Amino acid sequence: MIRRSLFLPFLFHLLLLFGYADPAPYCTRYSSVVDSEFEFEMVQHQVRGSLKIMDDCSFRVFQFDMLPGSDVYWWGAQAFDFENLTNGFIVSDAGLNGTYKNTTFDVRLMNNVNWDMINVLAIWDRTTASDFGHVVLRREAPAKPPPTVFGNCKVLSENFRLRWSLNVSEDSLEIGLEAVIGIIDFMAFGWADPRAGDSDLMIGGDVAVAGLKEDGLPFVDNFFITKYSECTKNDNGVALGVCPDSVYERSDGVGLANSSMLVYGHRKDGVSFVRYRWHLSKVDGNFDRPVNHSANMKVIWALGSIKPPDSINPYYLPQNHGPDNYGHLVLNISEHVNDCTGPLDAEDKEDQDIIIADANVPLVVSSAPAMHYPNPPNPAKVFYINKKEAPVLRVERGVPVKFSIQAGNDVALYITSDPLGGNATTRNLTETIYAGGPEAHGVEASPTELIWAPDRNTPDHIYYHSLYDQKMGWRVEVVDGGLSDMYNNSVNLDDQQVTFLWTLSKGSISIAARGEKKSGYIAVGFGSGMVNSFVYVGWMDDIGMGHVHSYWIDGKDASSIHRTHENLTHVRCKIENGIITWEFTRPLDPSCLREKRVECKNIIDPTTPLKVVWAMGAKWANGHLTDRNMHSSTSNRAILVHLMLGSAEAEQDLLPVLAVHGFMMFVAWGILFPGGILAARYLKHLKGDGWYRIHVYLQYSGLIIVLLALLFAVAELGGFYVRSTHVKFGLATIFLACTQPVNAFLRPQKPAIGEQAPFTRVIWEYFHAIVGRCAIVVGIAALFTGMKHLGDRYSVDNIHGLSLAMAIWFLMGALIVSYLEYQERQRMKKQISARNNWVFGNLEEDDSVDLLSPTITNADKELRPSARMDVQLEPLNI
Ligand SMILES: *[C@@H]1O[C@H](CO)[C@@H](O)[C@H](O)[C@H]1NC(C)=O
Ligand SMILES: *[C@@H]1O[C@H](CO)[C@@H](O)[C@H](O)[C@H]1NC(C)=O
Ligand SMILES: *[C@@H]1O[C@H](CO)[C@@H](O)[C@H](O)[C@H]1NC(C)=O
Ligand SMILES: *[C@@H]1O[C@H](CO)[C@@H](O)[C@H](O)[C@H]1NC(C)=O
Ligand SMILES: *[C@@H]1O[C@H](CO)[C@@H](O)[C@H](O)[C@H]1NC(C)=O
Ligand SMILES: *[C@@H]1O[C@H](CO)[C@@H](O)[C@H](O)[C@H]1NC(C)=O
Ligand SMILES: *[C@@H]1O[C@H](CO)[C@@H](O)[C@H](O)[C@H]1NC(C)=O
Ligand SMILES: *[C@@H]1O[C@H](CO)[C@@H](O)[C@H](O)[C@H]1NC(C)=O
Ligand SMILES: *[C@@H]1O[C@H](CO)[C@@H](O)[C@H](O)[C@H]1NC(C)=O
Ligand SMILES: *[C@@H]1O[C@H](CO)[C@@H](O)[C@H](O)[C@H]1NC(C)=O
Repeated sequence: MIRRSLFLPFLFHLLLLFGYADPAPYCTRYSSVVDSEFEFEMVQHQVRGSLKIMDDCSFRVFQFDMLPGSDVYWWGAQAFDFENLTNGFIVSDAGLNGTYKNTTFDVRLMNNVNWDMINVLAIWDRTTASDFGHVVLRREAPAKPPPTVFGNCKVLSENFRLRWSLNVSEDSLEIGLEAVIGIIDFMAFGWADPRAGDSDLMIGGDVAVAGLKEDGLPFVDNFFITKYSECTKNDNGVALGVCPDSVYERSDGVGLANSSMLVYGHRKDGVSFVRYRWHLSKVDGNFDRPVNHSANMKVIWALGSIKPPDSINPYYLPQNHGPDNYGHLVLNISEHVNDCTGPLDAEDKEDQDIIIADANVPLVVSSAPAMHYPNPPNPAKVFYINKKEAPVLRVERGVPVKFSIQAGNDVALYITSDPLGGNATTRNLTETIYAGGPEAHGVEASPTELIWAPDRNTPDHIYYHSLYDQKMGWRVEVVDGGLSDMYNNSVNLDDQQVTFLWTLSKGSISIAARGEKKSGYIAVGFGSGMVNSFVYVGWMDDIGMGHVHSYWIDGKDASSIHRTHENLTHVRCKIENGIITWEFTRPLDPSCLREKRVECKNIIDPTTPLKVVWAMGAKWANGHLTDRNMHSSTSNRAILVHLMLGSAEAEQDLLPVLAVHGFMMFVAWGILFPGGILAARYLKHLKGDGWYRIHVYLQYSGLIIVLLALLFAVAELGGFYVRSTHVKFGLATIFLACTQPVNAFLRPQKPAIGEQAPFTRVIWEYFHAIVGRCAIVVGIAALFTGMKHLGDRYSVDNIHGLSLAMAIWFLMGALIVSYLEYQERQRMKKQISARNNWVFGNLEEDDSVDLLSPTITNADKELRPSARMDVQLEPLNI
């Protein structure tokens, strides 16, 4: 019991020790900076707050404001210059993510970091190497508080804050106006005429008008309001309206903006800030109202646009403020007020000048000392483009940008994916270089020209920088040009409802499709129809995200749509006014195992025409497709796109021509040529040379038809594509057919009756007959392969019926030939026996018998191959 009672309090004590939010329980307090307090100097991201060094390994941050960055850390550096700051180091594991609003927290240094290593403590964004704000721990002279620091802050409106510091003993009032406004808008704040009613508070008001000039420098001037109008002078030279004090006082109206009030001004993150001095009760002129610091006084404010000085009027003159951008309130400036929570957060934080690149006008790239570099810290010298300091460069995809580089020979321009530039390789980082390099340097006398063509795969945000020094340039915004700018080729698909665009590059193809009318999705398929084709569908989902997916479709209902996983890159899908546009890049050959996945068969061969069809509909879904997702409108026919030529043609237009080609070939190879051969074989027993004439006429007309049909096909397909079996067979048979008239012309003389045929004649006869028959066989093969080709290519429904009919035709032909051959044999046998008798009885040969003799020998040859030698010497007697 005793042990327990002792143990428990001990445990309790331990818990207490560790449970306290003491940031550094065992930290020493030796460093000279311990207990010092600092105010953050705002550089970017509206950083405000103060810092106290608690001990040797931690510090506390008070009332901290910051807009979010991307990769923000506490950063230590030796000195506050570009080199030392960029080469700084992280001092704490704790990052700074998100927005900070009046937050107070403790930060522990890393174990290997101590205060001696740190002279400047910064808030650092590592991705952009930006200093958001910092404190300098050791200085020679005592630090003045930064100009962004005030004792009080009052919210005037959502976008407008009044900050002030009053020091009665010094008789000073410093006012800071801070507002989310346009670059050259004004902020006005001042004291109203105490006797004025609420309805016309502005009249008699003594206000300061502040803002930033076109060159980015701040201005502030003391105004007096005599009328609700822009400052004008009436005929007597009396100024009326919202005029600077000096205009009322000096009738000549000549003067400059009164800069004696100005303390400081900047514009950061889309927020303008101007700090100025204001008079208290001691006033100089007729147009200044005394301010009783301990009284409740009516103040007025306004925001609006401003008219810059011109040749007539040397002042910045406020224009009418909008209906919402003004107000009034009662203020006691002695009272401590702070109701500003968190930083002002402008929607549009980008103030940098924008240069929009034109296709034909070169951009002049020079370098000069930095004045308002958008991402401090920065080197002393930075890039200027067309005389603007480090502007945002906006380029269009597909439109070449021309640079005229004259920034000096120690500066080489390059376009990179790295936000800092200066050769990311030296920082052990990888970067993509889009243009430029070591050669891209020049001087004014001899500028170097650089042409860069951003293409559709160029990212949206890249940078122009010097290859040798970091942070000399700034951002490049790459925006989509017209689709036609970004793609080398475009064709309209069937019905002109979908435009199909593409660019071929080595091993890959970039494809885009644009609907020409409103739809919920656009599908483009590679095939003769949506069924049995590889389909790409682009659509917008419910939250407005664009998708492009690939599918294989093998049927007419929703269950036949199979999602495939092709390697699509650079996918984009967007909708504008209901018109969908989508794009992607894919390899020409998916190079994956064809047996495993169907999409691996989706190879694009740029040399053969690609069949493209489309479909559109109201809605597409990622997961479960129903029949209702099916297309509401489709192409009627496929378009054959010649990827290399950049042209397209309607596919079905070819069909009639090819059908005529097929029919003519059928007439030739199915009727005329076999007919001619049959005539030569079976009609010789007829009197005269009728068979010969029939043979010649049939073969010649067949040949002419074949050549015409070939011509049709070649003309219509735009050339020979000797890839398909059909074309190979066709060419072989046409070659054989063409040799026939040639060898017929060259045939040796027919021997006189009764004479022994010369050897050449016999050879020729065999050659002619065999080549002719081979031609027929190959021709029939060509007919069938042609039929199959037609079926494959155009999915003609009744192709099988046609093939069957043709097969039946040739079968019948074969039967007839067999019958004729049989008859011939019969006749032949009779004749042989007759001739044998005859020979023995009468040695004179009959003409008809002579004509029949070759068939006898032929038949003999086929029957008795061993007798070939004797047979071959016998004349064919054609
Ligand atoms: C910056 O650091 C270098 C050493 O890293 C030092 O030599 C130089 O003096 C520093 N610059 C300043 C301004 O202190
Ligand atoms: C911000 O940092 C804290 C701690 O450092 C971490 O818990 C949190 O997840 C971070 N938030 C984001 C959005 O990164
Ligand atoms: C006013 O200024 C004096 C002298 O600079 C200074 O001592 C005093 O602390 C200041 N008062 C306030 C309230 O800031
Ligand atoms: C500027 O303002 C100061 C103080 O308000 C005044 O004394 C001076 O005369 C003004 N200068 C001009 C040029 O208006
Ligand atoms: C300033 O206002 C206070 C409180 O209203 C008043 O007592 C004082 O007399 C005023 N001072 C002057 C100079 O008007
Ligand atoms: C203005 O505020 C100060 C400080 O809080 C106070 O002393 C003074 O009485 C206030 N004036 C009026 C009129 O309330
Ligand atoms: C900021 O925080 C402090 C305490 O940390 C608090 O006193 C103050 O009222 C806060 N300010 C605002 C404007 O919220
Ligand atoms: C960047 O530096 C590395 C080595 O320091 C060098 O090899 C490379 O060529 C440089 N890159 C360019 C674009 O000059
Ligand atoms: C880059 O990596 C090499 C080897 O890993 C290292 O020696 C060098 O210090 C690194 N440089 C930087 C700038 O980090
Ligand atoms: C996509 O790419 C990966 C790796 O690069 C590869 O393994 C896969 O087979 C590819 N898929 C297709 C459909 O090409």
